[in-house]
Amino acid sequence: MDKPEIIKLDYQNLGFSYIKLKYNYISYYRNGQWDEGVLRGEDTVTIAATSTCLHYGQEAFEGMKAFRRQDGGIQLFRPDENAKRLQRSCKRLLMPEIPIDKFINAVKLVVKANQEYVPPYESKASLYIRPYILGIGDNMGVRPAKEYLFGIICTPVGAYFKGGLAPVNFNVTEYDRAAPNGTGDIKVGGNYAASLHSHEVAKEKGFADCIYLDPLTHTKIDEAGAANFFAITRDNRLITPYSKSILPSITRMSIMQIARDYLGMVAEHQDVYIDKLDEYTEAGACGTAAVISPIGGIEYQGKMHVFHSLTEVGPITRKLYDLLTGIQYGDVVAPEGWIYLV
Ligand code: PLP
Ligand code: COI
Repeated sequence: MDKPEIIKLDYQNLGFSYIKLKYNYISYYRNGQWDEGVLRGEDTVTIAATSTCLHYGQEAFEGMKAFRRQDGGIQLFRPDENAKRLQRSCKRLLMPEIPIDKFINAVKLVVKANQEYVPPYESKASLYIRPYILGIGDNMGVRPAKEYLFGIICTPVGAYFKGGLAPVNFNVTEYDRAAPNGTGDIKVGGNYAASLHSHEVAKEKGFADCIYLDPLTHTKIDEAGAANFFAITRDNRLITPYSKSILPSITRMSIMQIARDYLGMVAEHQDVYIDKLDEYTEAGACGTAAVISPIGGIEYQGKMHVFHSLTEVGPITRKLYDLLTGIQYGDVVAPEGWIYLV
């Protein structure tokens, strides 16, 4: 691949907002099949006002990243897992699945087309990639659409939670983002619409985001609004909740394997009871956007529980962060199949 100049942006202070790039990708599903798809410059879509995505939330999306290696190359982190998860979301909402090859080739195409915007290695920023699928076309009754639009946009991003590796605080919300047997385990817009209010309340109170408890008993931590939850026990085990109402995070799956294979730790799914947080010495949020964000404290029923420290990242969280980002930026040898060069 040619390596064009990297476009100069303030990569140190990017945060997580949208900068329009040169190209995005769009493909249509009509008459029972996907078309080839094209790259285009315009980043708007024109769809029928009666589209199922607008009225009935028939849409799904993914979040993934491309990273600039020290040698200038560009790599994707586990895009096959995003492709598979999008297929699960599509299946659940009766949308046509996007073949894994089509998904990965389209992601590579968009990243290549915008390669000068993949942030420099030194910045520790990355290119965030947002594949999405929408039910489109004329429709009035509650039923699946006949036509679909699959698109991919991308934009350079920095830290999702302000502070990067500096701990952030969360509060426990009284609301649920998903039902026990609902759509919490797939990546669909409705889950995020349901989370906007509690996120806003958390922000107003000075928290980075909120923690959702399991929607059945409200006694166990489910996840955060935009990331999964993990904690470290006193005997150095990595614990992360298993729940049918949370998004199965690719980052979570990865740090569990990193903890086992690189750090020799035990990593397991276990319930995290909200009134037993003193069993844990460290805690964090993990996700594509969140990467690994240490949690300083969690507020529950007016009391703040502090894990390792409100200001310092804990030693195991730091090790996990260094290994995960080392793999993502190409400095640490990845387990087989995790890295796709663009
Ligand atoms: N949970 C929610 C609700 C999310 O939006 C995300 C982000 O994608 C995650 C967890 C983390 O998932 P992943 O690590 O696959 O990005
Ligand atoms: C991600 O981490 O990719 C997410 O989708 C989280 C959020 C920006 C919705």
